[in-house]
Amino acid sequence: MKLQSVRGTYDILPPESFIWEWIESKTRNLFNCFNYKEIKTPVFEVTELFNRTIGDCTDIVLKEMYTFQDKKGRSLTLRPEGTASVVRACLQHKLIQQNYINKLFYFGPMFRYERPQAGRQRQFHQTGIEIIGSSFPCADIEAILLLKAFFNELGLDDIKFRINTTGSRASRPMLNQALKEALEPNINNMCNDCILRFSRNVLRVYDCKVPSCKKIIQKLPAFAGILNADDQSHFDEVKAGLDALKIEYKVDPHLVRGLDYYTRTIFEVYTDKLGACDALAGGGRYDGLFEEMGSSEIIPAVGFAIGIERVINVLKNMKLLPSQPRHEIMVINFGGSAYLHSLKLTNRLRCSGYLVDFDLSGRSVKAQFRTAGREGFRFAIVMGEEEIIKQTVKLKDLFQQTEIELTEEQLVRFLHESIKK
Ligand code: HAM
Repeated sequence: MKLQSVRGTYDILPPESFIWEWIESKTRNLFNCFNYKEIKTPVFEVTELFNRTIGDCTDIVLKEMYTFQDKKGRSLTLRPEGTASVVRACLQHKLIQQNYINKLFYFGPMFRYERPQAGRQRQFHQTGIEIIGSSFPCADIEAILLLKAFFNELGLDDIKFRINTTGSRASRPMLNQALKEALEPNINNMCNDCILRFSRNVLRVYDCKVPSCKKIIQKLPAFAGILNADDQSHFDEVKAGLDALKIEYKVDPHLVRGLDYYTRTIFEVYTDKLGACDALAGGGRYDGLFEEMGSSEIIPAVGFAIGIERVINVLKNMKLLPSQPRHEIMVINFGGSAYLHSLKLTNRLRCSGYLVDFDLSGRSVKAQFRTAGREGFRFAIVMGEEEIIKQTVKLKDLFQQTEIELTEEQLVRFLHESIKK
């Protein structure tokens, strides 16, 4: 049997790996500018963490988790998302202090057993942020602003936000009641999953993909009108902030996210450049999660996560991917006694920060020149027996088809002037 990567997973190979490096470095720079600090949590956790936080009625917990027993019989799960682990780590390491806002970011692989298709993998990558300790609408606004800045930074200006509010824990009984009343007359026309959702957690009916159920769900009342006055004014302030910052959004009265921990503001980023397309990013406020995880204090929080593979797909389709910087210099390896001299020179230039390549396969000088031309190298440095005796090198400009002879010190000065780093 040929060994292959597992369905829904894939290898990131060069030159694509350069794109990942590019996105990661842009992301880190941006998050640093907004004063977020990186958190790295393990890729697996005890299963109960995800059952309790994401919600045991959600598709993620019911159908999509990679759960296994370790050798001691403990139930562990590959993380399907990052928020639960961040909350766990904050509580475990007592990162929460009064009047202090923790602003954290993460970057890494997540695992969901979904049906693989374009933009949906079983191992995928997210980068995300969590703002922990603020209940103010300005934290929701900062999260959305940062999300917009992320896409702009990559050259994607045409993304759209849909937002909604699911209300605080205090409003949730009213919301559930109103949804149940509206669904009751039709419940027998809905699928078995929805009947179960109706009794266990009515908000989860929004996860249903059955067309006949979707028709019924589309007629449910908008949440914003059902919530208490505090929730309404929180949502109004978020919208006012976005308006002031000229961040365009659409209020989607039926937007519900696939994780149970959300309260109040929720949002998703999408693009209609590619026709019907899944969300590129999503997030929202989760004011009750810390308490549910055992915190004695109420710790409000808001955050988002971006799906990196989906972002790369969009960038690819819109021809916005950067090309990898080319190697600048090929030091031609003559072999024999010239070999160590050229290797030393290669090392010196690399230590000075130039992109330098050196043949490792004993190919002929002619073949090395062919490669340098094919791969777009600008300069080739020749250091044969003759040059070693004269203590010089030949520098060939492969673009201009010119050649000059220089001492090593002259070469270093010349490269410094002609290659801007
Ligand atoms: P989520 O909406 O489940 O939210 O995932 C965020 C993003 O991850 C999605 O918008 C999508 O781009 C990407 N994504 C999800 N599943 C897949 C998949 N199977 N293949 C490829 N990409 C995928 C969360 O995970 C929350 N933890 C976000 C959050 C942070 N909320 C508050 N803080």
